[in-house]
Amino acid sequence: MATEFRWGIISTGWIAQSFVKDLLLDPKTRDVHDIVHKVASVGSRSVQSAQTFIDKYAAGDKNIKAFGSYAEVFADPDVQAVYIGTPHTLHYENAREALLAGKHVLCEKATTSNAAELKDLLKLAKEKNLFFMEAMWTRFQPLTKALKEIAEDGKLGDPVVLHADLSGDFDIENIPKTHRILDPRLGGGALLDLGPYPMIWAVVALYEHPSNKKAYPTKITGSILKTPLTGVDSSTTWTLNFTENLRAQAILSASITLPSPNPAATIRYRNGNILINAPIYKPSSFTVQYFDKPGSGNVVKEEKHVFSFVGGGWHFEADEVARCVTAGKLESEVWGHDKSILLMEVFDEVRRQGEYKLPEGVEKVF
Ligand SMILES: NC(=O)c1ccc[n+]([C@@H]2O[C@H](COP(=O)([O-])OP(=O)(O)OC[C@H]3O[C@@H](n4cnc5c(N)ncnc54)[C@H](OP(=O)(O)O)[C@@H]3O)[C@@H](O)[C@H]2O)c1
Repeated sequence: MATEFRWGIISTGWIAQSFVKDLLLDPKTRDVHDIVHKVASVGSRSVQSAQTFIDKYAAGDKNIKAFGSYAEVFADPDVQAVYIGTPHTLHYENAREALLAGKHVLCEKATTSNAAELKDLLKLAKEKNLFFMEAMWTRFQPLTKALKEIAEDGKLGDPVVLHADLSGDFDIENIPKTHRILDPRLGGGALLDLGPYPMIWAVVALYEHPSNKKAYPTKITGSILKTPLTGVDSSTTWTLNFTENLRAQAILSASITLPSPNPAATIRYRNGNILINAPIYKPSSFTVQYFDKPGSGNVVKEEKHVFSFVGGGWHFEADEVARCVTAGKLESEVWGHDKSILLMEVFDEVRRQGEYKLPEGVEKVF
């Protein structure tokens, strides 16, 4: 018998729509038989928007409650876990309220405005015995699992360099300055919005590599280009050194003014390369190149691995939440709290070096 898992959704924007569409797909289409997701309620700043969302993305299901506030979702006894799809700088307050109301939380990336806010939430979640996870969907996709097996089977050796970029042309000259990607009060800019994706590949390829033994980077450097439009970062480049147990570097970048290159991530080893195709948040393929001998650069074997599934790709993270909560876990073993903290600490340091300060009052904990 499949376990029914009941969600409360807060916000009705693009990502909440994408998440709910996936949530309500028949899990058998991805060979999942132990979990069935249900939406118990949807909260929006406007009850009309919540109802329109239910009509459009949940076929008008009369069992789903439409609320004109997020607080009503947190208070809904039918909700087991809350999905937070608001802009980044609201995540801390929204997640805190959900945890205080006794709900497990799946929170969109960037998890919070800074690492201090995240640590405060994790402390609260622990005190309340509640599950908390950053919605790092890419980590749960089948391609990532397959790539990790190859990256860690020893044939390529230890990783030496990772290059990864996620960019997107947001046409910033022609969108309102209040758009969340441009508004510093909503944590606008490339780093917090797109940065989690180059970071997930740094985590998979370097941080999670068995030879790294879960050591955090020993050095972080960052350089930020700000747009004169609103002062948010339009392009950001940062590097991470992993030298405690590896001799490896990640060279990462994100921009809101042009598309990603393709391949958009490359993991380089003495014995070959892994090339990951764009978009790196949901790649559909990667290619492994093997050299004839270590360090030669002569590719003698190339293997392309292609993946497809039904849906947008967000359902895999939802399955993880349902399974973890059902098993009484407080964090995922796949994308645990250590990884979310690593991301936020890197973003804090890159913003510090690049002198990108969020406006007064945006960050709630320091
Ligand atoms: N995982 C992914 O693939 C992915 C992709 C895109 C974005 N994201 C993340 O998801 C979050 C939201 O992104 P999005 O693209 O869905 O944004 P969006 O379309 O602008 O939606 C954000 C929603 O948040 C709510 N909201 C509450 N206070 C708001 C405020 N002051 N200004 C604007 N919206 C407010 C609104 O819903 P109501 O009006 O219903 O309250 C709004 O529709 C961001 O943290 C982003 O980084 C993740």
